[in-house]
Amino acid sequence: MATTIPTPKPALDKPLMHYGRRVLDRTAPGNSPTQYQILDISPLTLHIGAEITGVDLSQPIGDDLAEELRQALLEWKVIFFRDQHAFGPEQHLALAGVWGAPEENPFFPKSGTAGVSRLAKDAMAIGNENIWHSDHSFMAAPALGSVLRAVEVPPAGGDTMWADMAVAYDNLSASMKERIDTLTAVHDWVPSWGSAMTEDRVTRLRQTLPPVEHPVVVRHPRTGRKVLYVNEPFTTRIVGLSDTESRELLGELALQARIPEYQVRFRWQPDSIAIWDNIAVQHYAINDYYPQRRVMERIAIAGVPLS
Ligand code: SIN
Repeated sequence: MATTIPTPKPALDKPLMHYGRRVLDRTAPGNSPTQYQILDISPLTLHIGAEITGVDLSQPIGDDLAEELRQALLEWKVIFFRDQHAFGPEQHLALAGVWGAPEENPFFPKSGTAGVSRLAKDAMAIGNENIWHSDHSFMAAPALGSVLRAVEVPPAGGDTMWADMAVAYDNLSASMKERIDTLTAVHDWVPSWGSAMTEDRVTRLRQTLPPVEHPVVVRHPRTGRKVLYVNEPFTTRIVGLSDTESRELLGELALQARIPEYQVRFRWQPDSIAIWDNIAVQHYAINDYYPQRRVMERIAIAGVPLS
């Protein structure tokens, strides 16, 4: 006999008081799951994160594989590969190229290969990516995705987490959705990256990277699905609201990425690779391994203006 799943209670206006089942749809309503011919997909949760086996990413990526990789990323939002031992900067660039052109992060240390950033304990002291964020949301066309490779990992710790911001939007109360659906927010790198810079450097960089605005709820450029698009370090205020209203609303929206049911967590091994859809998810690099060494290489993929 079929089990009837009770209809979830409407989400409460106070997100921390929510309990019970959440709505965790992997894809937008009406999309049926893809049957993959090449990829072997093992889901890590029902809606975000899948480990993919049966692919050697050191080999040239043909059209059929590229198409399945693109589809898998749209469906799972973050995909993982392990034991890619023959994978270096050249293969890294080729893999990122399945989605688009590489985009430099202006603040990350360089690796020696154009387009590839190297995040090492040596260079980043104890690392400062342990805050929920979307890569490059402070740009007019934020990165579409990122491809991260583990070069050296600590014996324990140093995991990364991702949160599904489409599901986060789905679970907001109807009144919250109505309130934020037409709002726009300012994104700016200065309060985070700029805090450790001299005023001169901030002024110089500001000329090429001024504050930008994005809708608070964006339509994903490929799927059209609504995504909550504000993040703690880079979204500085909501246009048209008072400072207090803006701060309170951003605080409440930022909490959504912290809800465990929206998340997936990945334990790295050397030569593991993660690729994420940077519009659909936020991520958080757990900073629990100091003074062990952790070295990662990352390529961000150039994006498009959001609407
Ligand atoms: C990042 O924030 O892009 C880095 C993630 C990580 O090092 O796990």
